[in-house]
Amino acid sequence: MSILRVENLTYTYSPSTPFEHIAVNDVSFEINKGDFIGIIGHTGSGKSTLVQMLNGLLKPTKGKIYFDGKDIWEKPKEIRKIRFNVGLVFQYPEYQLFEETVEKDIAFGPSNMGLNDEQIKERVKKAAKFVGLREELLPKSPFDLSGGEKRRAAIAGVIAMDPDILILDEPTAGLDPVGRDILLSQIDAYHRERKNTVLLVSHSMEDVASVCEKVLVMNHSQLWDFDTTDHIFSRGEELAQIGLRIPQVTSIVDALIHEGFPLKRGVLTVEEAVTEITEYLKREGRL
Ligand SMILES: Nc1ncnc2c1ncn2[C@@H]1O[C@H](COP(=O)(O)OP(=O)(O)OP(=O)(O)O)[C@@H](O)[C@H]1O
Ligand SMILES: [Mg+2]
Repeated sequence: MSILRVENLTYTYSPSTPFEHIAVNDVSFEINKGDFIGIIGHTGSGKSTLVQMLNGLLKPTKGKIYFDGKDIWEKPKEIRKIRFNVGLVFQYPEYQLFEETVEKDIAFGPSNMGLNDEQIKERVKKAAKFVGLREELLPKSPFDLSGGEKRRAAIAGVIAMDPDILILDEPTAGLDPVGRDILLSQIDAYHRERKNTVLLVSHSMEDVASVCEKVLVMNHSQLWDFDTTDHIFSRGEELAQIGLRIPQVTSIVDALIHEGFPLKRGVLTVEEAVTEITEYLKREGRL
Protein backbone atom coordinates (compact mmCIF):
# COMPACT_ATOMS: atom_id res chain seq x y z
CA MET A 1 0.00 0.00 0.00
CA SER A 2 1.36 3.39 -1.01
CA ILE A 3 2.07 5.88 1.80
CA LEU A 4 3.98 8.57 -0.08
CA ARG A 5 3.78 9.57 -3.71
CA VAL A 6 5.86 12.24 -5.32
CA GLU A 7 5.08 13.67 -8.75
CA ASN A 8 7.42 15.78 -10.88
CA LEU A 9 9.08 17.26 -7.82
CA THR A 10 11.42 20.18 -8.52
CA TYR A 11 13.25 22.51 -6.16
CA THR A 12 15.13 25.60 -7.25
CA TYR A 13 17.32 27.53 -4.79
CA SER A 14 17.42 31.34 -5.26
CA PRO A 15 15.12 31.35 -8.31
CA SER A 16 15.42 34.24 -10.78
CA THR A 17 18.78 35.34 -9.38
CA PRO A 18 22.31 34.74 -10.71
CA PHE A 19 22.58 32.04 -7.98
CA GLU A 20 19.63 30.07 -9.30
CA HIS A 21 20.26 26.36 -8.83
CA ILE A 22 17.93 23.46 -9.58
CA ALA A 23 18.71 21.05 -6.72
CA VAL A 24 15.92 18.55 -7.46
CA ASN A 25 14.69 18.21 -11.01
CA ASP A 26 11.42 16.55 -12.02
CA VAL A 27 11.56 13.61 -9.63
CA SER A 28 8.67 11.12 -9.33
CA PHE A 29 8.41 7.96 -7.21
CA GLU A 30 6.11 6.08 -4.87
CA ILE A 31 6.90 4.54 -1.49
CA ASN A 32 4.94 1.73 0.13
CA LYS A 33 4.03 1.54 3.80
CA GLY A 34 6.68 -0.28 5.79
CA ASP A 35 9.42 -0.01 3.16
CA PHE A 36 13.02 0.56 4.27
CA ILE A 37 14.57 2.70 1.56
CA GLY A 38 18.11 3.89 1.06
CA ILE A 39 18.78 7.20 -0.70
CA ILE A 40 22.21 7.47 -2.28
CA GLY A 41 23.92 9.89 -4.67
CA HIS A 42 27.13 11.88 -4.93
CA THR A 43 27.63 15.03 -2.86
CA GLY A 44 25.32 17.80 -4.03
CA SER A 45 23.06 15.44 -5.99
CA GLY A 46 19.98 16.74 -4.16
CA LYS A 47 19.34 14.15 -1.40
CA SER A 48 18.96 16.57 1.52
CA THR A 49 16.86 18.97 -0.55
CA LEU A 50 14.60 16.08 -1.57
CA VAL A 51 14.00 14.81 1.98
CA GLN A 52 13.39 18.34 3.29
CA MET A 53 10.56 18.62 0.77
CA LEU A 54 9.12 15.30 1.90
CA ASN A 55 8.48 16.59 5.42
CA GLY A 56 7.21 19.97 4.31
CA LEU A 57 10.25 21.96 5.37
CA LEU A 58 10.93 23.14 1.83
CA LYS A 59 8.06 23.91 -0.51
CA PRO A 60 8.53 22.38 -3.95
CA THR A 61 9.04 24.88 -6.74
CA LYS A 62 7.02 22.49 -8.89
CA GLY A 63 5.32 19.14 -8.42
CA LYS A 64 3.23 17.44 -5.76
CA ILE A 65 3.74 15.30 -2.67
CA TYR A 66 0.91 13.04 -1.55
CA PHE A 67 0.99 11.57 1.95
CA ASP A 68 -1.69 8.88 2.40
CA GLY A 69 -3.22 10.10 -0.85
CA LYS A 70 -3.48 13.75 0.29
CA ASP A 71 -1.58 16.64 -1.28
CA ILE A 72 0.49 17.92 1.69
CA TRP A 73 0.42 21.51 0.41
CA GLU A 74 -3.34 21.56 -0.19
CA LYS A 75 -3.77 23.68 2.96
CA PRO A 76 -0.45 25.50 3.38
CA LYS A 77 -1.43 26.70 6.88
CA GLU A 78 -1.55 23.09 8.07
CA ILE A 79 1.83 22.10 6.66
CA ARG A 80 3.36 21.77 10.14
CA LYS A 81 1.13 18.77 10.81
CA ILE A 82 2.96 16.76 8.15
CA ARG A 83 6.07 16.87 10.36
CA PHE A 84 4.31 14.66 12.91
CA ASN A 85 3.71 12.08 10.17
CA VAL A 86 6.98 12.44 8.33
CA GLY A 87 9.79 12.86 10.87
CA LEU A 88 13.13 14.12 9.58
CA VAL A 89 16.43 13.77 11.39
CA PHE A 90 18.75 16.33 9.78
CA GLN A 91 22.28 15.89 8.61
CA TYR A 92 24.33 16.69 11.79
CA PRO A 93 21.23 17.07 13.99
CA GLU A 94 23.29 17.52 17.15
CA TYR A 95 23.63 21.19 16.28
CA GLN A 96 19.88 21.57 16.68
CA LEU A 97 19.67 20.62 20.35
CA PHE A 98 18.76 23.78 22.20
CA GLU A 99 16.79 23.01 25.37
CA GLU A 100 18.16 23.05 28.95
CA THR A 101 17.93 19.30 29.34
CA VAL A 102 18.10 16.28 27.10
CA GLU A 103 14.64 15.29 28.28
CA LYS A 104 13.14 18.64 27.21
CA ASP A 105 14.86 18.38 23.86
CA ILE A 106 13.42 14.95 23.14
CA ALA A 107 10.03 16.18 24.41
CA PHE A 108 9.99 19.18 22.06
CA GLY A 109 8.30 17.38 19.14
CA PRO A 110 5.70 15.44 21.15
CA SER A 111 4.85 18.59 23.21
CA ASN A 112 3.67 20.24 20.01
CA MET A 113 1.31 17.37 19.28
CA GLY A 114 -1.23 18.12 22.00
CA LEU A 115 -0.27 15.19 24.25
CA ASN A 116 -0.53 15.39 28.05
CA ASP A 117 2.53 15.42 30.34
CA GLU A 118 2.21 11.76 31.22
CA GLN A 119 2.08 10.72 27.56
CA ILE A 120 5.01 12.96 26.70
CA LYS A 121 7.11 11.51 29.52
CA GLU A 122 6.32 8.00 28.38
CA ARG A 123 7.27 8.78 24.78
CA VAL A 124 10.54 10.43 25.80
CA LYS A 125 11.49 7.42 27.94
CA LYS A 126 10.63 4.95 25.19
CA ALA A 127 12.44 6.91 22.48
CA ALA A 128 15.56 7.36 24.63
CA LYS A 129 15.62 3.64 25.35
CA PHE A 130 15.21 2.85 21.66
CA VAL A 131 18.28 4.82 20.66
CA GLY A 132 20.28 3.49 23.62
CA LEU A 133 20.42 6.75 25.58
CA ARG A 134 20.85 6.00 29.28
CA GLU A 135 18.11 7.34 31.54
CA GLU A 136 20.56 9.18 33.79
CA LEU A 137 21.47 11.40 30.83
CA LEU A 138 17.94 12.79 30.52
CA PRO A 139 18.26 15.55 33.18
CA LYS A 140 21.64 16.67 31.80
CA SER A 141 22.28 19.55 29.45
CA PRO A 142 22.56 18.37 25.83
CA PHE A 143 25.90 20.18 25.71
CA ASP A 144 27.32 17.73 28.27
CA LEU A 145 26.74 14.77 25.99
CA SER A 146 29.33 13.14 23.76
CA GLY A 147 29.01 13.50 19.98
CA GLY A 148 27.36 10.11 19.61
CA GLU A 149 24.98 10.74 22.51
CA LYS A 150 23.94 14.10 21.05
CA ARG A 151 23.16 12.37 17.78
CA ARG A 152 21.08 9.78 19.64
CA ALA A 153 19.19 12.49 21.52
CA ALA A 154 18.32 14.25 18.27
CA ILE A 155 17.10 11.00 16.72
CA ALA A 156 15.08 10.22 19.87
CA GLY A 157 13.35 13.61 19.53
CA VAL A 158 12.01 12.62 16.13
CA ILE A 159 11.17 9.01 17.05
CA ALA A 160 9.25 10.34 20.08
CA MET A 161 6.71 11.85 17.68
CA ASP A 162 6.08 8.31 16.41
CA PRO A 163 6.03 9.38 12.77
CA ASP A 164 4.60 7.06 10.11
CA ILE A 165 7.69 7.77 8.05
CA LEU A 166 11.10 8.27 9.63
CA ILE A 167 13.73 9.95 7.46
CA LEU A 168 17.35 10.00 8.59
CA ASP A 169 19.80 12.16 6.65
CA GLU A 170 23.28 10.62 7.11
CA PRO A 171 22.63 9.48 10.69
CA THR A 172 25.96 7.70 11.08
CA ALA A 173 28.21 10.33 9.46
CA GLY A 174 31.10 11.37 11.68
CA LEU A 175 30.61 8.61 14.25
CA ASP A 176 33.33 6.07 15.01
CA PRO A 177 32.92 2.62 13.36
CA VAL A 178 31.53 0.95 16.49
CA GLY A 179 29.09 3.81 17.13
CA ARG A 180 28.01 3.62 13.49
CA ASP A 181 27.31 -0.10 13.63
CA ILE A 182 25.33 0.18 16.85
CA LEU A 183 23.24 3.09 15.58
CA LEU A 184 22.55 1.34 12.28
CA SER A 185 21.38 -1.82 14.02
CA GLN A 186 19.13 0.27 16.25
CA ILE A 187 17.56 1.91 13.20
CA ASP A 188 17.13 -1.54 11.68
CA ALA A 189 15.47 -2.78 14.89
CA TYR A 190 13.20 0.29 14.90
CA HIS A 191 12.05 -0.59 11.40
CA ARG A 192 11.47 -4.25 12.19
CA GLU A 193 9.66 -3.68 15.48
CA ARG A 194 7.48 -0.71 14.58
CA LYS A 195 6.99 -1.74 10.95
CA ASN A 196 7.20 1.94 10.04
CA THR A 197 8.49 3.31 6.78
CA VAL A 198 12.13 4.38 7.01
CA LEU A 199 14.18 6.43 4.53
CA LEU A 200 17.92 6.42 5.10
CA VAL A 201 20.16 8.90 3.27
CA SER A 202 23.68 7.51 3.32
CA HIS A 203 27.11 7.67 1.74
CA SER A 204 27.86 4.20 3.09
CA MET A 205 26.97 1.60 0.50
CA GLU A 206 27.68 -1.10 3.11
CA ASP A 207 25.06 0.37 5.45
CA VAL A 208 22.48 0.68 2.69
CA ALA A 209 23.18 -2.86 1.46
CA SER A 210 22.86 -4.37 4.90
CA VAL A 211 19.53 -2.82 5.93
CA CYS A 212 17.60 -1.34 2.98
CA GLU A 213 15.15 -3.24 0.80
CA LYS A 214 15.09 -0.66 -1.97
CA VAL A 215 17.43 2.09 -3.09
CA LEU A 216 16.67 5.47 -4.64
CA VAL A 217 19.62 6.87 -6.56
CA MET A 218 19.98 10.60 -7.18
CA ASN A 219 22.36 11.94 -9.80
CA HIS A 220 22.79 15.63 -10.66
CA SER A 221 19.39 16.59 -9.20
CA GLN A 222 17.58 13.82 -11.05
CA LEU A 223 16.30 10.41 -10.10
CA TRP A 224 18.72 7.94 -11.68
CA ASP A 225 16.81 4.83 -10.62
CA PHE A 226 14.67 3.43 -7.84
CA ASP A 227 14.76 -0.34 -7.49
CA THR A 228 15.44 -3.24 -5.13
CA THR A 229 18.83 -3.09 -3.41
CA ASP A 230 20.23 -6.16 -5.21
CA HIS A 231 19.18 -4.79 -8.63
CA ILE A 232 20.78 -1.42 -7.93
CA PHE A 233 24.05 -2.90 -6.65
CA SER A 234 24.27 -5.34 -9.54
CA ARG A 235 24.96 -2.31 -11.78
CA GLY A 236 28.43 -1.57 -10.42
CA GLU A 237 29.92 -0.20 -13.63
CA GLU A 238 27.08 2.22 -14.30
CA LEU A 239 27.13 3.39 -10.68
CA ALA A 240 30.88 4.02 -10.93
CA GLN A 241 30.15 6.35 -13.86
CA ILE A 242 27.98 8.51 -11.61
CA GLY A 243 30.54 8.58 -8.81
CA LEU A 244 29.12 5.80 -6.65
CA ARG A 245 30.73 2.57 -5.66
CA ILE A 246 29.06 -0.66 -4.67
CA PRO A 247 29.67 -2.47 -1.36
CA GLN A 248 33.15 -4.00 -1.25
CA VAL A 249 31.83 -7.52 -0.81
CA THR A 250 29.60 -7.06 -3.88
CA SER A 251 32.64 -6.02 -5.97
CA ILE A 252 34.60 -9.05 -4.77
CA VAL A 253 31.81 -11.44 -5.76
CA ASP A 254 31.44 -9.55 -9.09
CA ALA A 255 35.17 -10.05 -9.71
CA LEU A 256 34.80 -13.79 -9.04
CA ILE A 257 31.87 -13.93 -11.49
CA HIS A 258 34.08 -12.13 -14.00
CA GLU A 259 36.70 -14.87 -13.48
CA GLY A 260 34.08 -17.46 -14.43
CA PHE A 261 32.76 -18.58 -11.04
CA PRO A 262 29.02 -19.31 -11.27
CA LEU A 263 27.91 -17.13 -8.36
CA LYS A 264 24.81 -14.99 -7.91
CA ARG A 265 25.15 -11.33 -8.91
CA GLY A 266 24.13 -8.61 -6.44
CA VAL A 267 25.36 -10.26 -3.22
CA LEU A 268 25.00 -7.58 -0.56
CA THR A 269 26.56 -8.71 2.69
CA VAL A 270 29.56 -10.72 3.85
CA GLU A 271 27.19 -13.38 5.28
CA GLU A 272 25.45 -13.75 1.90
CA ALA A 273 28.82 -14.04 0.15
CA VAL A 274 29.95 -16.76 2.55
CA THR A 275 26.75 -18.74 1.93
CA GLU A 276 27.03 -18.30 -1.84
CA ILE A 277 30.68 -19.39 -1.99
CA THR A 278 30.17 -22.29 0.46
CA GLU A 279 27.28 -23.60 -1.62
CA TYR A 280 29.36 -23.35 -4.77
CA LEU A 281 32.23 -25.29 -3.14
CA LYS A 282 29.80 -27.96 -1.95
CA ARG A 283 28.31 -28.32 -5.44
CA GLU A 284 31.84 -28.78 -6.74
CA GLY A 285 32.52 -31.42 -4.10
CA ARG A 286 35.36 -29.33 -2.69
CA LEU A 287 33.85 -28.92 0.74
N1 LIG B 1 20.54 26.82 0.91
C1 LIG B 1 21.04 26.61 -0.30
N2 LIG B 1 21.18 27.61 -1.19
C2 LIG B 1 21.67 27.41 -2.43
N3 LIG B 1 22.07 26.21 -2.90
C3 LIG B 1 21.96 25.17 -2.06
C4 LIG B 1 21.45 25.30 -0.72
N4 LIG B 1 21.47 24.08 -0.14
C5 LIG B 1 21.96 23.24 -1.07
N5 LIG B 1 22.26 23.88 -2.22
C6 LIG B 1 22.80 23.29 -3.45
O1 LIG B 1 21.85 22.36 -3.96
C7 LIG B 1 22.47 21.19 -4.42
C8 LIG B 1 21.91 19.98 -3.70
O2 LIG B 1 22.27 20.07 -2.34
P1 LIG B 1 21.87 18.97 -1.28
O3 LIG B 1 22.31 19.46 0.03
O4 LIG B 1 20.42 18.64 -1.46
O5 LIG B 1 22.75 17.73 -1.78
P2 LIG B 1 23.09 16.36 -1.05
O6 LIG B 1 22.89 15.29 -2.05
O7 LIG B 1 22.34 16.27 0.23
O8 LIG B 1 24.66 16.51 -0.75
P3 LIG B 1 25.57 15.86 0.42
O9 LIG B 1 25.78 14.42 0.03
O10 LIG B 1 26.82 16.65 0.37
O11 LIG B 1 24.82 16.02 1.72
C9 LIG B 1 23.98 21.40 -4.21
O12 LIG B 1 24.55 21.85 -5.42
C10 LIG B 1 24.05 22.47 -3.16
O13 LIG B 1 25.21 23.26 -3.29
MG1 LIG C 1 22.93 16.14 2.20
